[in-house]
Amino acid sequence: MKILVVGSGGREHAILWALQRTSARPLELLCAPGNAGIAEIARCVPIAATDVTALASLAEDERVDLTVVGGEAPLARGIVDEFTTRGLRIVGPAASAARLEASKVFAKEFMARHRVPTARFRVADSAEEAIAILRRGEFGGPEAPVVIKADGLAAGKGVVVARDRAEAERAVQELMVQRRLGAAAARVVIEEALEGREASVIFWTDGRAARLMPPARDHKRVGEGDTGPNTGGMGAVTGPDVLDPATRERVVRQTVEPTLEGLRAEGLEFRGVLYLGLVLTPEGPRVLEYNVRLGDPEAQAILVRLRSDLVAIFDAVAAGRLGETDVEWADGASACVVLAARGYPERVEMGAVIRGLKEAAEVSGVEIFHAGTERGPQGEWRTAGGRVLGVASAAPTLDQALARCYRAAERISWEGLHYRRDIGR
Ligand code: AMP
Ligand code: GLY
Repeated sequence: MKILVVGSGGREHAILWALQRTSARPLELLCAPGNAGIAEIARCVPIAATDVTALASLAEDERVDLTVVGGEAPLARGIVDEFTTRGLRIVGPAASAARLEASKVFAKEFMARHRVPTARFRVADSAEEAIAILRRGEFGGPEAPVVIKADGLAAGKGVVVARDRAEAERAVQELMVQRRLGAAAARVVIEEALEGREASVIFWTDGRAARLMPPARDHKRVGEGDTGPNTGGMGAVTGPDVLDPATRERVVRQTVEPTLEGLRAEGLEFRGVLYLGLVLTPEGPRVLEYNVRLGDPEAQAILVRLRSDLVAIFDAVAAGRLGETDVEWADGASACVVLAARGYPERVEMGAVIRGLKEAAEVSGVEIFHAGTERGPQGEWRTAGGRVLGVASAAPTLDQALARCYRAAERISWEGLHYRRDIGR
């Protein structure tokens, strides 16, 4: 069986690794465009993840049996529609359903239509309208925190949690007048700031059945103690402390089920992975965001616990047979610690020589996923991105998983390497 994975990060490396590790049948793995670490387990083809027509032609020429999409950009561009039109089997939502992630306005209005609990919100089409909404004080007085979100995709940079109205007004200026994110902030969502622990509930769905993955928690800020700018994610954990069974039941009933019912009611085709970013408030769970894919680095922490055949799961998702498929996980917990390059998430320094990969891989129970690496002229490993490596481990307890990750991380070095030592704390 020939499988193509679209993307080039740690998430895609983990998906390919898990496919190979869990599959009952021999696989031929392709990745577009991939990275140097991925090239150790899959044939990488230099086609950009967003070049939807070229990817469909690749799948046709190579007679790929199944394509799995890692990130949101190709989904928003309609990769699933293009593959489906050509009769190619693919896992992921159609572009119309990928709007759950690609447009915050669409997502919020969808949640409102289908009574999925979320933060109270307004939509503004101009800076004047946004400022007027803030000054009306619907989300609290001048001293109250309030959240401004760019409508479009912004690679994690589109959300400002403002401490007070002045900061919120500055965010509106930057987003809507100075256009820091371009057209992505032509509209914004303004919403109440919620407080509570966060958790990510990610599941496979074929539009009817859902199979939950272990709930995860990520660490978005670059610095220890949740300081510094937001990143794509500096680490993630799974385990019994992330979400207790009663809250998990409540999340399924109050957020997962109405979301799936809403998709069906609106005729939105969704055969893929849906990610609910939640905040657990005293009044119950609230959905902060939808993603239409696995998280990165949540995927790395989750997939090291997978026991079932991932090919069979993706196959069942694509075929609409997920209801007949069981998914099993290793008990316990897991973690992924991201090793980043100097300057990440702002001005990233690349090309540093990476040492100690082999020694780190010898730590038992650890997997090392490549997010941004390349091979130099002598075959040496070099950094080629902001997030460079993800060190992941599953173990009976979170402490054990973290200890393994950090033992391996300590063996790796390059000029400018940094990572958080408080993942899971
Ligand atoms: P999002 O991309 O919508 O998940 O937002 C990114 C991060 O901003 C979330 O993980 C939260 O930490 C924070 N955030 C988003 N919306 C809110 C909100 N309404 N109240 C408090 N924090 C929020
Ligand atoms: N780690 C957050 C995300 O993948 O969206």
